[in-house]
Amino acid sequence: MDRVAGFTSTGSKRPGALFGIEGEAAPLRMTRSSGCVVWDSEGREYLDYIMGLGSVALGYGHPEVTRAVAEAAQLGVVGPLPPVLEEALAADLCRLIPWLERVRFLKTGAEAMAAAVRLARVVTGRDTVLGCGYHGWLDWCQTGEGRGTPPASQALYRELPFNDAAAARELIRSAGDSLAAVVFEPVILEPPDPQWLAVLREETLRSGALLVADEIKTVCRLAIGGGCERYGIRPDLAVIGKAIANGLPLAAVGGRADVMEAVSRTWISSTLATEFVSLAASQATLAAMVRLQVPAHLTRVGTRLLAGLQALAAAHPEIVVRAVGLPEMCSLEYRDETVSGRVATACAARGLLFKRSAYNFVSLAHDEAIVDRTLGILDEAHSAVAAGPALSP
Ligand SMILES: Cc1ncc(COP(=O)(O)O)c(C=O)c1O
Repeated sequence: MDRVAGFTSTGSKRPGALFGIEGEAAPLRMTRSSGCVVWDSEGREYLDYIMGLGSVALGYGHPEVTRAVAEAAQLGVVGPLPPVLEEALAADLCRLIPWLERVRFLKTGAEAMAAAVRLARVVTGRDTVLGCGYHGWLDWCQTGEGRGTPPASQALYRELPFNDAAAARELIRSAGDSLAAVVFEPVILEPPDPQWLAVLREETLRSGALLVADEIKTVCRLAIGGGCERYGIRPDLAVIGKAIANGLPLAAVGGRADVMEAVSRTWISSTLATEFVSLAASQATLAAMVRLQVPAHLTRVGTRLLAGLQALAAAHPEIVVRAVGLPEMCSLEYRDETVSGRVATACAARGLLFKRSAYNFVSLAHDEAIVDRTLGILDEAHSAVAAGPALSP
């Protein structure tokens, strides 16, 4: 045991991240998932809102996706030539998300974001990047000393605050003609301010930098075209991932044809970017998204969840600060880490996996009755923590 360094290869699934340091009694590893239910290594069953960290919007093991995956596996998974499916899926994406005129597939969100930044640097001949949000673990967007990213790389990246139009204008202008791109998440705990979005668009155009929307967790969730569709943003590039293949490893960078053509002036390539199991999963996912109007379902069910979270925050002010997020991706903010860890652990003990400090995600497998049951469990868990061992003052 303990052969996986740091417990698991996905940092956000560490017990400390999910349940805090007091969460020893919480589930550690799982064996199976279906719909919105997961089973841990002890065979215990949980209702889940972590949903593969937002990578699953149709529900775990959706039959249409599973069928597509099985067929693609039967067809051999990979080969020496690019699969027909690659062009077919690219055409589906470009039809559904019109600001994607060309796309390139990659395996992870971080990889696709790095590709977007590389393209922006090639096209502009500039190096500086302003970023807003989380964009993955690769070097180009890291800050902070002693964490293995060279100062030279850190010097090219600066953070831009969310929803602060004046700061955005100032940062973009002061980067001047060194600015290659502004990359941003369209939602960070709250919707984007239209004025902030307008400044990002105007100022990047003025500067000659590219505007890159990081839609990795918002695509196929807020709308099929993510935050750009919902809020009317027209980026130069958009990066998509997570829910596009309902949990299979696939991400993509896409956007203006002239920008995307810069792939021929640099080297962006990955051996398994063209395996067809994930491409087939994505094709089936997109078809189900459209036919079943999944984003509208997420909004409807999520609205009930978020209203319930707001009521919980009002009912437990001693431990909860506020409900945050949008219906499709929301959470409760707690007084401190100890409290949030205890609540997450108390929820798990009652058969619920609910994120304490990052987004919870509804899926097509969640319905109103499940949400009501969830809110009942959350209420009980909050009461238990509020009445439990003394909390720090
Ligand atoms: C907005 C955003 N960008 C990038 C990433 C990184 O994606 P991945 O973990 O697939 O590399 C994430 C992952 O949570 C994300 O939410």
